[in-house]
Amino acid sequence: MASDSDAFVFFGASGDLAYKQIFPALQALTRHGHLEMPVIGVANAQLTLDQLRARARESIEKHGVMDEAAFAKLSARLKYICGDYQSPETFRQLSEALGSASRPIYYLAIPPSLFATVAKGLAGLKSSAAGRIVVEKPFGRDLASAKGIDAELHQFFPEAAIYRIDHYLGKEPVQNLLYFRFANSFLEPLWNRNYVESVQITMAENFGVEGRGRLYEELGAIRDVVQNHMLQVVALLIMNPPVGPAARDPDGFRNEKARALRAIRPLDPADLVRGQYRGYREEEGVAADSQVETFAALRLHIDTWQWAGVPFYIRAGKRLPVSATEVWVQLKHPPQQVFDSVNPPNYFRFGLSPSVFIALGAGVKKPGEILAGDSVELMVHEATADDMTPYERLLGDAIHGDPMLFVRQDSVDAAWAIVDPVLGNATPVPTYEPGSWGPSEADRLVAPGAWRDPE
Ligand code: BG6
Repeated sequence: MASDSDAFVFFGASGDLAYKQIFPALQALTRHGHLEMPVIGVANAQLTLDQLRARARESIEKHGVMDEAAFAKLSARLKYICGDYQSPETFRQLSEALGSASRPIYYLAIPPSLFATVAKGLAGLKSSAAGRIVVEKPFGRDLASAKGIDAELHQFFPEAAIYRIDHYLGKEPVQNLLYFRFANSFLEPLWNRNYVESVQITMAENFGVEGRGRLYEELGAIRDVVQNHMLQVVALLIMNPPVGPAARDPDGFRNEKARALRAIRPLDPADLVRGQYRGYREEEGVAADSQVETFAALRLHIDTWQWAGVPFYIRAGKRLPVSATEVWVQLKHPPQQVFDSVNPPNYFRFGLSPSVFIALGAGVKKPGEILAGDSVELMVHEATADDMTPYERLLGDAIHGDPMLFVRQDSVDAAWAIVDPVLGNATPVPTYEPGSWGPSEADRLVAPGAWRDPE
């Protein structure tokens, strides 16, 4: 059993992620009694502790739900260190603020280019030998740079102390994919190439880059959400359950996930359609001739006994008609067409966001004289949005030393190896109209089927 951390340090305390996600998560952790320790924010911004507290309050009011009692506790525990990450003085002050803490957690909510500098500074602290380090995506820009970042981090922290956040893994319905698969025996005979015709995952957002133009120019949809969130979801859909004593062991689970990712063939440009919404080039921070994609549709091939020949389609984009993330698992038609068949026949549909559900599609007889079919949906599970945010869950797990929902280096590398051949300008970027389902070129990928648009 891992020991709980005894101090929480977060770098990037004045940044956007802290404002939108971290402060609300820290208040929730405090409310649930998981943050009984000093909380130390570090940033290079000239703020007083009171100004940081005011920022935390504003952040929670805007992006969370204010709980005055929990906030008062968090506020009292909060300390602030203003300093340059390059300067030994910053780490001296941190060491002083940590006092007798011997198992701190260091959360690096900062750009990856600064990871090594901060990790090096931390490695010099006496409290770091049993410390944990939490890092945020993007873990590099491609396979080579991801390996470079890891090599730098590993100079100072062993892999077991590194917790890489992919916030999708902290989402309740994403965990339910795994639970539903492995807690039910009826799925097992169907869940393979014999019954599954194709799988589609759509991550649609009806908004654009929202002031993140400069950052997004460095990313594009493939780096921003496909290499991480979407491929993690595919891995959860195709992975085998861990076996034997490893079944309850976080690494048993992570071994299977890494194996699943390694079985996905590196992308061929013929299996990718990129797109850019009209108006993206006018966003602040975006180049007038930008070739960066705000939409990607792709077809994956999985080289395993279970999944060979079953296409997995991913579609992710900004400024699409709705905001919704959904998985659609299409089953094959019955072997004989006794009745006029309903279309689509059997399928599973998993709503990941904002609606959370698991549904099974089936054909039934339409009431009336003739034997005509109707399509119905059996709702297996329907839930309201999760009240535990992914950040609360993941930071809580990191504090308790449970690495299961964090991405191990081999999985990060395997996911980069899949997208590496199509990064950059491997394919053209046609323009699409905001509010549409992306460029029409994406339709050729799924022919002769069709994209299943979330409602
Ligand atoms: C982030 C991406 O990782 O995920 C964003 O950088 C995207 O571009 C976001 O909007 C979506 O996350 P969620 O939890 O809102 O579906």
